[in-house]
Amino acid sequence: MTKTPKATRTEWLRRAREALGGAVTSFVLPESHAIVLSHGLGSRVVDVDGRDYIDYVLGSGPLILGHAHPAIVEAVSRQAALGSTFYTLTPAAIELAEEIIRAVPCAEQIKFVSTGTEATFHALRIARAYTGRTKILKFEGAFHGVHDYALISAFPAVPSDLPKGQPDSAGIPPQVAETVLVSRWNDLDVTRALIEQHAEELAAVICEPLQRALPPAPGFLNGLRELTERYGILLIFDEVVTGFRLAYGGAQERYGVVPDLATFGKALSGGYPLAAIAGRREIMALTDPTRRSRGEPVAHLSGTLNGNPLAAAAGLATLHVLRQPGVYDYLYRISEQLRTGLRELAAARGIPLQVIGEGPVLQIVFAEEEPRDYAALLRADRERAVRFGLACLERGLFVNPGEKLYLSLAHSEADIARTLEIFSAALDTVLSDANATASD
Ligand SMILES: Cc1ncc(COP(=O)(O)O)c(C=O)c1O
Repeated sequence: MTKTPKATRTEWLRRAREALGGAVTSFVLPESHAIVLSHGLGSRVVDVDGRDYIDYVLGSGPLILGHAHPAIVEAVSRQAALGSTFYTLTPAAIELAEEIIRAVPCAEQIKFVSTGTEATFHALRIARAYTGRTKILKFEGAFHGVHDYALISAFPAVPSDLPKGQPDSAGIPPQVAETVLVSRWNDLDVTRALIEQHAEELAAVICEPLQRALPPAPGFLNGLRELTERYGILLIFDEVVTGFRLAYGGAQERYGVVPDLATFGKALSGGYPLAAIAGRREIMALTDPTRRSRGEPVAHLSGTLNGNPLAAAAGLATLHVLRQPGVYDYLYRISEQLRTGLRELAAARGIPLQVIGEGPVLQIVFAEEEPRDYAALLRADRERAVRFGLACLERGLFVNPGEKLYLSLAHSEADIARTLEIFSAALDTVLSDANATASD
């Protein structure tokens, strides 16, 4: 009997173009570099042609333990055999909520949703319901998911005319944009002036405490905490990226600033669809569904798969590993090896390059100076960063060119050493491209 040959990358890509418009998320590689993945194990992913890569995308962050971690596979398999979803309370969801409360300083009560987008959407709604105010303030370049309130000046092509934001997508009603004020990350003076001017109408200030890969300037988060407290505005930390990643208690533990509400996703459930809103009990009480029958205001929050037991089981298994001693030391140590190694490689070639981020979240920026805000990132050489990323892909690193890199516990020191060899070759490519352009 002749075996049907397996479809190749080219064939899968043709079918994907036809059926999916070529992508399942906004992450799209150029046709020449597009990849269809077959499976992943630990720090590696393998494509449909059998080519393997060291993975620095990690599912856009969730896989802090790496791919197919045995503890997660075991926990999910066990739960799957018991049933996959119930639309009601389960021990897995209750235990996961309790563990988040133990871990996260601001967490007195939890609500589960399925995505980070839902988490920030609901956190903002809860803040409006709690304060009776309409507007929110966010920061230029901060990403909080893809709902209409989040897609205001998340990635504008040119700096925004603050505090007016620019919708990042067609289809966002202008009325929504009018309820979102935009400030400049790490600029406490501009932010203070905006908050003071709009205090009466502001329900919340929302930020990523590590904005993409831009760390907060010393005192900036404390300044936000102080101002929001003074004017009765809720401070929301979007910890979808930083939660359980910068420290077990997230950025709020790492930076020592406690918000009123925080959102979690990604690492929390180790690659299964679950996200959470955490916060002070009296604020979270607004989501109590029984309030409606008592005629009290309610911030309605529901979802078919909320607190899904498969995802909750994956979350419990993930957090069990993450709270073992030495875990964060290891993540910070290998990250530092990568940062230092890359900086040395760039310096030896006279290439202006910055590695920004914190711990296991890194971004490579081609610029003379370390950027502190989104406008500075816009001034950096993004084209070069993308070329560098593509050169890494060609040599066996799975990266999203020009975007963040994530590290996991599955990355070994040997992976870091191999990655630095590839970085070295990719920097040479970038240099020879530049020399070729110069001599054209
Ligand atoms: C900081 C932050 N918030 C929210 C989101 C949205 O999460 P999701 O993609 O699960 O909707 C993301 C996704 O990348 C994120 O990075």
